[in-house]
Amino acid sequence: MTDVVPPTALSEIKLRLLCQDDIDSIKVLCGDWFPIEYPDSWYHDITSNKKFFSLAATFKGGIVGMIVAEIKGRTKVHKEDGDILASSFPVDTQVAYILSLGVVKEFRKHGIGSLLLDSLKDHISTTAQDHCKAIYLHVLTTNLTAIHFYENRDFKQHHYLPYYYSIRGVLKDGFTYVLYINGGHPPWTIYDYIHHIGSALASLSPCSIPQRIYRQAQSLLRSFLPWSGLSSKSGIEYGRTM
Ligand code: ACO
Repeated sequence: MTDVVPPTALSEIKLRLLCQDDIDSIKVLCGDWFPIEYPDSWYHDITSNKKFFSLAATFKGGIVGMIVAEIKGRTKVHKEDGDILASSFPVDTQVAYILSLGVVKEFRKHGIGSLLLDSLKDHISTTAQDHCKAIYLHVLTTNLTAIHFYENRDFKQHHYLPYYYSIRGVLKDGFTYVLYINGGHPPWTIYDYIHHIGSALASLSPCSIPQRIYRQAQSLLRSFLPWSGLSSKSGIEYGRTM
């Protein structure tokens, strides 16, 4: 692939679905991008099984990026991520799992990763409509570029997964990241309940009642005792004395 990538490369990028003829090229690309070795069956599956959304970004005919994802029922979520969605969502609720996202090194920071992710979101909205409530993925805790990429696109860390990956026999930690869409949300924690009750109470404004009484008493006092020097600002101000 070319060494000099024009700044306008994104405008020349074309998107198409991966097919079996791509297997040799994507094996080389994935070898460059990921420390994990995928078995041949994985390449066969993602290029032929219709359950996968496998999209290639091409530049002058060559693959420079790809995203592979699967939209599946919430009951098919990995066991360790079983709590991605609150149990109140029906069993036929769907989620999308990103198996892989990568861009050729020279083509990074040109918007191709974002284009692929946006294309996945478009695909979800046309095929699963609003039944899909979350997009999730796993990433190595040391892959800071990918973590920043996803965090900058509103994905939130959901789980820390110690020793999740085995890379050439060495165990490495991972994270689960989730982007909630279409009203999806995780199970409520005790903090959510406290926050919810707090917000509900705040909307009743019980705290504003003593404040209002205080302000009215102040203005009444000012009208009777104009020399009292009471500040006209609401609330009490503390100044520093020398
Ligand atoms: N000039 C300068 N910066 C730009 C431009 C431009 N023309 N276009 C985009 N950018 C910036 C973006 O704003 C973004 O920065 P931000 O996150 O602060 O907003 C940054 O470049 C990257 O965005 P993109 O260009 O859209 O993404 P990129 O094509 O670089 O792909 C990816 C990101 C896929 C993570 C890439 O770094 C990569 O392939 N890494 C190696 C493989 C990898 O780790 N993949 C993820 C593993 S996890 C998993 O697959 C589930």
